[in-house]
Amino acid sequence: MINASLLNDIFTAAAPMPGVDPLGYGIPPLLFQLLSYLTFSMHITAMNFTVGGAILFLWLHLRRNDATLPIRRYLGGGLPLGMSYVVTLGIPPLLFVQVLYGQQFYSSSILIGSFWILIIPLLITAYGLFYLHKLTRDSRRSGHGAIIFIGLVAMLLIGFFYVNNITLSMTPEKWLDMYAAKPDGLSLNLSEPTLFPRFLLFITPAIAVSGLGIILAGSFLSRWGREAEASLFRSFGVRAVPVGFVLQAVCALWIIAVLPENISAFVFAGNSATVLLVAGIILAALAAILALIAAGSKRVLPALLSLIMAFAAIFCHAALRDMVRLQYLAPVFDLSQVPVKTQWGMFGIFVATLLLGLALLIVLMLRVFPGMASAARK
Ligand code: HEM
Repeated sequence: MINASLLNDIFTAAAPMPGVDPLGYGIPPLLFQLLSYLTFSMHITAMNFTVGGAILFLWLHLRRNDATLPIRRYLGGGLPLGMSYVVTLGIPPLLFVQVLYGQQFYSSSILIGSFWILIIPLLITAYGLFYLHKLTRDSRRSGHGAIIFIGLVAMLLIGFFYVNNITLSMTPEKWLDMYAAKPDGLSLNLSEPTLFPRFLLFITPAIAVSGLGIILAGSFLSRWGREAEASLFRSFGVRAVPVGFVLQAVCALWIIAVLPENISAFVFAGNSATVLLVAGIILAALAAILALIAAGSKRVLPALLSLIMAFAAIFCHAALRDMVRLQYLAPVFDLSQVPVKTQWGMFGIFVATLLLGLALLIVLMLRVFPGMASAARK
């Protein structure tokens, strides 16, 4: 074991934080931040749809009610697709977090390295199991609860390792002691008081988001005149939505209670962070109200609007989360330390590619989503 005080003596004499990248940012950091909020929100929405889909699938599976089979088929069939979106939409924020907070993110990734590297086999396991379920559900009747359960646990572990990494990247004062105690990367940030409420703050809305996905599927079924299935979907989906949002509200109160005093004072100081907090709550409430309207309507629009409101609420959460991160890091780092050497041409190419990619994504979703709802009764 390495002597902790010796390491501290060596490192505190030097900079407490690896130096900033001398190449600097290619665009003003605010643009990077906005792009990271947008792509991170898409990642979290896809993650919520998939994790929530697996949770609701298991809930219905355990209740063994044949009447809910179409919903189970819809949810189970959507898991591999949802997973592909989680991974694809996780890449852009991964690039942005490395550009904006590279010194912190790399350091914390190394400290939890042995767990961090497990993300890859866990991802393959979850993805493989979700496909196994989809491809064998007609030929093999048993074992699907266990398959989805293990896939869900693998996903939750990945999320948990992410929360460990991000919270550790925000608290550099812990790094030296942690490295000295376990230089083999076998550390987790378990002493962090916000760890579990933060994890649950991201996971609990999954039940609401997948509930919204079920209502949306119900509205497509109505459109095709399959009213019996449509009302089954809508009545189940609308019950899931408040469960998810209420659980998230409980986690929000929990995290507020354990945030360091200076951070909670910052969040409630009547600044842009407070505006984001209030806007997020209002948007989530609007999403829930629209979900109620959608449950009693045969039209697609209310369900779609409800999902858009939920996405906007997630966006506010993403932006607030970043402000809180900057507040944690304020004593040792701020984005203005990094030189800006603009490369607008490169940025233009990036934005054009992003818009093209998003357009393709929307077209694909509009084609695939109704198909998923339609395949539910087979
Ligand atoms: C498959 C299951 C996954 C789950 C359940 C999950 C969940 C989460 C959660 C809860 C966070 C927030 C962490 C925090 O702020 O404390 C997060 C952040 C993040 N996730 Fe995922 N994730 C998954 C997979 C992935 C994958 C495969 C990628 C990359 C390809 C990815 C990229 C990211 C990035 C980059 C962040 C942090 C962004 C930032 O700090 O700006 N995630 N994820």
